[in-house]
Amino acid sequence: MKKNAQVIIIPTPGIGNLVPAVEFAHHLIHREHRLSATVLVIPIPHRPQVTAYVNARAATTEVQFLHLPPVDLPTPDQFQTSLGFVSVLIEKHKAHVKDIMADLVSSTQPDSVPLAGLFIDMFCTPMIDVAGEIGVPCYLFFASPASFLGFMLHLPTLHAQLATDSDTELTIPSFANSVPVQVVFPTGLLNTNEDRYTWFLHYALRYRETKGIIVNTFLELEHYALDSISSASDIPPVYPVGPVLDLHGPARWDLMNLSLEKNIIQWLDLQPAKAVVFLCFGSMGSLSGAQVREIAKGLERAGYRFLWSLREPPKTKLELPSDYANLNLEEILPDGFLKRTAEIGLVCGWVPQVSILSHEAIGGFVSHCGWNSILESLWYGVPTATWPIYAEQQMNAFEMVMELGLAVEIKLDYWVGSDLVLSEQVERGVRLLMDGDGDGDGEVRRKVKEMREMSRVAVEENGSSYVSLGNLIDKLLATI
Ligand SMILES: *[C@@H]1O[C@H](CO)[C@@H](O)[C@H](O)[C@H]1NC(C)=O
Repeated sequence: MKKNAQVIIIPTPGIGNLVPAVEFAHHLIHREHRLSATVLVIPIPHRPQVTAYVNARAATTEVQFLHLPPVDLPTPDQFQTSLGFVSVLIEKHKAHVKDIMADLVSSTQPDSVPLAGLFIDMFCTPMIDVAGEIGVPCYLFFASPASFLGFMLHLPTLHAQLATDSDTELTIPSFANSVPVQVVFPTGLLNTNEDRYTWFLHYALRYRETKGIIVNTFLELEHYALDSISSASDIPPVYPVGPVLDLHGPARWDLMNLSLEKNIIQWLDLQPAKAVVFLCFGSMGSLSGAQVREIAKGLERAGYRFLWSLREPPKTKLELPSDYANLNLEEILPDGFLKRTAEIGLVCGWVPQVSILSHEAIGGFVSHCGWNSILESLWYGVPTATWPIYAEQQMNAFEMVMELGLAVEIKLDYWVGSDLVLSEQVERGVRLLMDGDGDGDGEVRRKVKEMREMSRVAVEENGSSYVSLGNLIDKLLATI
């Protein structure tokens, strides 16, 4: 079928950003058949998952993928943190992106159709310049919550305040409560000498230059944060279109994981309903050996059935965590732990999180609070205990526990290098998560169940996110 218009999407090459951006593109062209979509994939070293995901997803969607040619990698003097590395890498692709976009809209192409919009994600703001040069409207696709978007939009103001005060509590428009400094600026984000902070500030300043901001959230979940953003006069229109989820899950990315998944699901099939606590810290999350042993002790004492995705910390700052070999697993866990818990627990590596969360045996989720994970757990009605590690996860955890009452707290301000969370805390958190207020059906569990229904209604016909996506499509088609 001949399309009337096309869109281009440029996501940051990391699973947490790439997957929701691709799913958004998929939703967009399914909803509006006059649109086609092309995702430009930025090549990146040390991230084999990115290629595996793109190859697998390309076979099951009409979204096109175009791999950008490699560039010279950022040199050590150009970055300090992995975010700095990725940011410099993205900037280096500006020229390629401009050539490709010019080519796609060129009238000499036989089936060229007008370009209705360029969608960039939170770290791809350099491409705003490219869109400007070619004369295409640029939109931001934001894969983190509206609360964090509100924080980013407020960051330049906060930056000016922080230079003069040393408050311990911060007022942020998208949060109803004041937020402790250590939740807002963990892992040295406050360290203004580090490139991560400079980059965040740089991105935050540019979001206002876009024609609209698409957020992977829904009105019923983040009413307060979304209202606070829409009521500001100088911010582009916001379109909450979520939850946008990849429900087929990473297990399909390669066959080795598929057989692993089968073993895990078989084990879960043998467990009673809602009896298993699932621990998983995300595609980039790993913990020190000492911390792993505290968790093990806490889990053993809490005595619940558990499924624990445990990963080995990366060797360098640009690599991702990897799975432990069996031998190392014995070494890192307390003596005899695997033997003693063999009846109630399973320790595994990288897992297909969606297939696990959707299993009826899962009764609770100890999570790093990455936004995709939170949306997935709400979709399946699984209550969460918070254990944030990196990025904006501490703020997500704060929102879930303090603002929305949708999670219980193990920790709100944990970060790589902070004090150990002791086994007593782990035990208490897991009990609270699995037992609620004693009858296994506490306030948090009840609210999560309600939110599960609301998340599904939001994306159905005439639901809030459905309507919002329709408004965006109208705007896209009106500009060509
Ligand atoms: C959605 O709204 C339209 C217009 O009001 C209505 O005709 C349609 O039946 C609604 N669909 C559903 C599923 O409620």
